[in-house]
Amino acid sequence: MSTAISPTAYNYKVVRQFAIMTVVWGILGMGLGVYIASQLVWPQLNLDLPWTSFGRLRPLHTNLVIFAFGGCALFATSYYVVQRTCQTRLISDSMAAFTFWGWQAVIIGALVTLPMGYTTTKEYAELEWPIAILLAIVWVTYALVFFGTIVKRKTKHIYVGNWFYGAFIVVTAMLHIVNHMSLPVSLFKSYSAYSGATDAMIQWWYGHNAVGFFLTTGFLGMMYYFVPKQAERPIYSYRLSIVHFWALITLYIWAGPHHLHYTALPDWAQSLGMVMSIILLAPSWGGMINGMMTLSGAWHKLRTDPILRFLVVSLAFYGMSTFEGPMMAIKTVNSLSHYTDWTIGHVHAGALGWVAMISIGAVYHMIPKLYGREQMHSVGLINAHFWLATIGTVLYIASMWVNGITQGLMWRAINDDGTLTYSFVEALQASHPGYIVRALGGAFFASGMLLMAYNVFRTVRAANPAQAEEAAKIVVVGAH
Ligand code: HEM
Ligand code: HEM
Repeated sequence: MSTAISPTAYNYKVVRQFAIMTVVWGILGMGLGVYIASQLVWPQLNLDLPWTSFGRLRPLHTNLVIFAFGGCALFATSYYVVQRTCQTRLISDSMAAFTFWGWQAVIIGALVTLPMGYTTTKEYAELEWPIAILLAIVWVTYALVFFGTIVKRKTKHIYVGNWFYGAFIVVTAMLHIVNHMSLPVSLFKSYSAYSGATDAMIQWWYGHNAVGFFLTTGFLGMMYYFVPKQAERPIYSYRLSIVHFWALITLYIWAGPHHLHYTALPDWAQSLGMVMSIILLAPSWGGMINGMMTLSGAWHKLRTDPILRFLVVSLAFYGMSTFEGPMMAIKTVNSLSHYTDWTIGHVHAGALGWVAMISIGAVYHMIPKLYGREQMHSVGLINAHFWLATIGTVLYIASMWVNGITQGLMWRAINDDGTLTYSFVEALQASHPGYIVRALGGAFFASGMLLMAYNVFRTVRAANPAQAEEAAKIVVVGAH
């Protein structure tokens, strides 16, 4: 096998931009998470102003962590992975640059409009129609860049990571466009095109698949590239990855009704959502096992490589949250968990443990390569970050489990005469210690991000432009 240096280079500029913004938005989004968590401990932090109230900052938190932090991580890694596995440059630099600036504009739009109270009121789809249209245009451009690059690939196969990224891109476009169908009545107000139970069903078809395709399938694309790369081992089973892909995308789309148990949604639809959610355990764990087993023979690397630790622990949390999710989808369990902090704990087991941890691992892997450095400025700081993130996640989810089950049981406790045993405020008082622990866990996690920012800054500053340019050269393995 010969190795030839191709005269062309990868477009690393856009990858670097998205990677840096992943860290920036991560700090802001998680910092805001700590702030709203603190508001639930000390309500005075609402500052008696509408713009800083919990109700307005909460959707800003979800938009910043999911779309700004998670979105930038997905853009950065998908552009990196598609170029490297297809051994070719992105098809268009200007379209790629448009996706970067357009995406940042969408986030700025969220930063301005959500605190002002402009919202569609649909969770995770709050952005009003002008921003939603910009988002759709950026997304279609993203799809053209991604799939265009796949079309002009120099390799025969399409690496499995790209299948996952591809599904995430296509399905996110479909969900966003269908759920956002609405009638604008002014510049920042629109009404949904759907009504009643249909509106709720469309919203949670969107909401659940935002979890399934944005927060899961895209990050699985990440997993399939970065876990084998960092472990320096081939993926455990390529066949399992194909089965994993088709099973996951076929099943996820049906599970949305588990968000609408005991509502006006027809009973059969609720039961369908429950059954499909339970079946979803199988492909989820298939993927987790495929990632974990990739470390066969390389487990010793975990002792010295904190980046690999981030990636492996993220898989453990993925396995945990995809076990918990199907359990919570069972109607009788959901009757206890719904409306309680258990859901919030489940969300952050996935969001912090899986989504954030794998993104952090992937960014640490990419940064030195993008800037032509051997490794990150400080491995010790990555290690410290790893422990802050792990302890932070555990504090967050453990406190929310305790709170969730306490709330569920207190709300349903009934005296012999049929009256409620506890008032709502009593359940809230019982939750207070848990809120303190959650805010502390969040502060751990967010301070880890500050260490990351410093480490990335030092690594980038140490790189000289010539090294960075050299790093972007396309090395075609097996070329003649
Ligand atoms: C420092 C880290 C974080 C802290 C302290 C934090 C805190 C919070 C708080 C206090 C809430 C509101 C809970 C409630 O209404 O009772 C929340 C909601 C939420 N957060 Fe975070 N968060 C953090 C990181 C993240 C990350 C990284 C993600 C996603 C990648 C995320 C996704 C969400 C989602 C989806 C919700 C809404 C959950 C629901 O409606 O059920 N969070 N977060
Ligand atoms: C097999 C996989 C999964 C299943 C079956 C599942 C199931 C569920 C169920 C039953 C709920 C509670 C619905 C309710 O009572 O309102 C829920 C909420 C949620 N899950 Fe999962 N889950 C899975 C994996 C994940 C993962 C990996 C993540 C994050 C990365 C995640 C993020 C969320 C979010 C954000 C919510 C809150 C939605 C809201 O009410 O705002 N889930 N999930």
